[in-house]
This record gives sequence, structure tokens and C-alpha cells, in this order.
Amino acid sequence: MREGGRVSGEKLGRTVGISRTAVWKYIAELRREGYQISSSPRLGYSLISAPDELLPEEIKGGLNTNIMGKQIIHYREISSTQDIAKALAAQGADEGVVVVAERQTQGRGRMGRNWFSLPGSICLSLILRPELKPLEALKFPLIAGVGAAQAINKLTGLRPELKWPNDLILGGKKVGGILAELSAETDRVIYIVLGIGINVNTPRNLFPEEIEAIATSLKEECGKEVSRVKLVQAILVELESLYEELKFVGFEPIRQKWKSLSNTIGFWVRVSNAKEEIEGEAIDIDQEGALILRKASGSLQRIIAGEVTLRKEVNRGGNLGGQV
Ligand code: BTN
Repeated sequence: MREGGRVSGEKLGRTVGISRTAVWKYIAELRREGYQISSSPRLGYSLISAPDELLPEEIKGGLNTNIMGKQIIHYREISSTQDIAKALAAQGADEGVVVVAERQTQGRGRMGRNWFSLPGSICLSLILRPELKPLEALKFPLIAGVGAAQAINKLTGLRPELKWPNDLILGGKKVGGILAELSAETDRVIYIVLGIGINVNTPRNLFPEEIEAIATSLKEECGKEVSRVKLVQAILVELESLYEELKFVGFEPIRQKWKSLSNTIGFWVRVSNAKEEIEGEAIDIDQEGALILRKASGSLQRIIAGEVTLRKEVNRGGNLGGQV
């Protein structure tokens, strides 16, 4: 039916190997799920529209990945996809399992903050089991940022920038964020859950007051609706290819991609974390994904966690007033 045109109940039954009565029951089930399907006794069925939901069958249809999305679990409403994915991973779920939700009631962001999962957004958590030392896990939020930015670019032509470690920025505003959570023993990672939140079709008037000046959505930036299903598919494809690259080539090509997407390198920044506030010029990221700052004293400092505020571009001297 997806290929267009009308398909008779008899043909559908023959293709799938079920009776016409069973076809009728499945069509009724799909309609209950929100698919609009027209039927005529002589001509058969045709698909008018699919629901705007991240349904596993929709995401899996045409998804060409081996690992990412091998199982997709969908919720209309859940506390946090991150919590579900972590519980599944702790029970031994395979890498590549994805949890998606239309709405989260307790979405979590980095540094203990809340994440508003707004209508028209994507909330996704992905389980990975890389064979790595815990210290190497810092690469994963960066990999997720590169994957999400590349997927957005391929689907919409927009060019999101990455603010270290992995905020997705468009037009100076945040369009998405990534939360990477880790379970590890002293010398090995047991699992990583990558949580990705992207404001896709969220209209400006739905942003809560506290973030309306600093947040945006893909639709606001490109002026048209973006298919959330296609974006999830594109993210899974990009992440799989980066994951393979990491395994077989190493982190260096991904580090270079991250740097080419970065809006952080070359800026005077302030980094705040639970312990301190540090200022300096962001000059690079290292082989582990840590941010390297050159402080006013000239000494270098390696940062592995924190919230970055861009102050001014060092080479051109433009002042951003600390707003990003
Ligand atoms: C940040 O920018 O602070 C990270 C935001 C991460 C949000 C995503 S939405 C899917 C997953 N579930 C959560 O509760 N958080 C992440």
C-alpha cells in the first residue's frame, strides 16, 4: 500500500500469506493505530496517511542498519526513555535497542537539568556495548552529536553546529541535546545509553518561557515540517556508520568531523561544572574528546565535563555577550 495505488484484499492476503478475513482484521487494527486507509469492495485498500508517531514499524520500514534499531520500543508517554533504556540494558538488552517516546514526563538533560520534551520533538535512547575502557566513553556524546548533525544536514540541508560536548545549535539557538550515561567496571564499559532529544516540528509558541529565547526547532529554522520518522532513521544510519568507523579506523576521523562542525573551537569560553568556573580559549579537542583550553596565563587545561558559554571569537574579536 505504501508504494501507492490500491491493493486488493486478496493480493494483500496472498503477499503476506494470510486469509482475507485476517487482512480485514489487520486493516481495522491499523486504523485504530491512526492509519487512514480507504477501502472499496471492488478496488481494494489504499493508504491515505500514516499517524505522525514514531511507530517501530514505520521506523523499521526501509531502515538499512545491522545494529542500530534492531529492536525499537515506542511509548506514547513515559517518564524518560533514558530510564527505560538503562533498565533494559541492566537486564541484558542487546546493543542497538532503541527506546522512543512521543512525550516524556521527566525528561532529563545534562548536569542534572530537566529536558522539556515538547510536542513535535524526538526523544530517543539507544543502548550500546562498546568494548572500551571507561575513560574512552567521553567519545560517545561527541559521536552522537556528529551523527545527529549529519542526519539533520542530509534530511533538511540545515547545518547544525556543535557546542562542546554535543549541543546541537542552529542560528545561535539550541535545537537538540545529547545525554550519554554509562555503566562501567574499573576497566571496561558495560553499556552506554545515548539519549538524543531534538526539537523537530515544535512551533515557537510552545517553548516554555525559560527557554524560548535560547531554543529553536528544525521547522522554525527551515520553514517546513520535517519527517520525524525519516530523521530517526537517518540518525540511526549515521550513528551506525560512525560506530563502525570508530571500531575499524579509530576516533581521529570522527574528531576531525566534530571539529569541522564545532562552534566552540577558536572562542573564548567559560566552562562551569559542579566544582569551578574556568575561562580560556577553546583551542582543540583531544584524542579522548576532552576540550583543551588555553587560559589567560597561557597554561593549558583539559576539560572532561561542564557547561560551555561562548564569550567571544578569539581571532575576530566579535562579542557574543555570553548568550549562547
Ligand atoms: C542536554 O542537552 O542537556 C541533553 C538532553 C537529552 C534529552 C534526551 S531526550 C531522550 C533522552 N531521555 C531523556 O530523559 N533525556 C534524553
